[in-house]
Amino acid sequence: MKKALVFAAFVALLFAACKKDPVDERYFPRVKEIIQANCMSCHSPGGQGLPVIFETDEDITSRAASIKSATIDPASPQNKRMPLDGELSQADKDVILKWFEKGGRATD
Ligand code: HEC
Repeated sequence: MKKALVFAAFVALLFAACKKDPVDERYFPRVKEIIQANCMSCHSPGGQGLPVIFETDEDITSRAASIKSATIDPASPQNKRMPLDGELSQADKDVILKWFEKGGRATD
């Protein structure tokens, strides 16, 4: 009985280890969450951040480079810091940077 339990725990651990393959990690779903939480108040129809909107995946991927510069690169008069009313957390910036460096596509 005890042996069976140990074996079951071992199998469960193996499964958990396989699922978390970092090579397959996709950042885009997390990028979308970050944008929904921090950017949509201004970048949706009727918002003050028009004409930039982030409604569809395509809206986001087509602006990958400007999203990265607006949130991560040094702010300047030509590169306004986004969100306009604050700053993303370092963890959120890391996700955006990894996504951008992987290719900035919906599959990355
Ligand atoms: C409080 C409102 C507000 C929020 C929140 C906000 N933005 Fe903006 N955003 C603006 C405004 C206003 C502009 C136009 C700025 C300008 O051109 O002076 C803009 C412009 C932009 C641009 C275009 C800049 C360029 O290169 O022309 C990008 C990209 C952008 N925002 C990304 C984001 C991202 C990504 C977030 C969330 C992390 C975000 N914004 C959150 C108001 C906002």
